[in-house]
Amino acid sequence: MSEFEVRLAERRDLEVLMEIERTQFPEPWTQGMMLDELNRTDTRRYTVCTESGVVVGYLGVMFTDDGMHINSIGVVTGHERRGIARTLMDECWTDLAQRGITRAALEVAVSNAPAIALYYSYGFAPVGIRKNYYQATKEDALVLVAEFPSTLA
Ligand SMILES: CC(C)(COP(=O)(O)OP(=O)(O)OC[C@H]1O[C@@H](n2cnc3c(N)ncnc32)[C@H](O)[C@@H]1OP(=O)(O)O)[C@@H](O)C(=O)NCCC(=O)NCCS
Repeated sequence: MSEFEVRLAERRDLEVLMEIERTQFPEPWTQGMMLDELNRTDTRRYTVCTESGVVVGYLGVMFTDDGMHINSIGVVTGHERRGIARTLMDECWTDLAQRGITRAALEVAVSNAPAIALYYSYGFAPVGIRKNYYQATKEDALVLVAEFPSTLA
């Protein structure tokens, strides 16, 4: 049985987050972009999933005027399909409920079947397409939105 834990991401996680970026994304963020994301703790919440203390995945969200936006999620190459993304999403959803956030949005490449399946399982549904959203691949993005009832009294 896996022993995944979730904690807030820190500066010391930068190297493994960049490894995930470089190996998992066709258009990886630069180290400067990632560091900027980690530092903007007023509007961002970045978490890592660890297994025996080793980072195996991360999730980054941004708080917006009308809810939350998923900026990025990725797992270390070779660790896919072990429940890491689900562990991160579950922890995030608990945090959203505590904040009273009731709407989440994101963009995902139309060909990214694993990510789309993950998001659909959290209640996301398509609301539009952004043409040529990804510069490197010229691929379109699917815009997904999830709305959920507030659990705050
Ligand atoms: C998308 C990604 C984050 C999923 O992470 P993961 O840890 O492998 O996902 P999990 O094991 O927690 O699976 C959760 C759910 O996602 C879906 N899923 C994940 N991988 C899938 C695959 N290869 N095919 C179909 N569905 C998949 C399933 O619904 C799965 O639930 P299930 O196992 O109960 O069927 C991972 O594949 C990844 O890092 N991809 C590259 C980066 C990326 O594309 N990020 C998204 C950018 S928008």
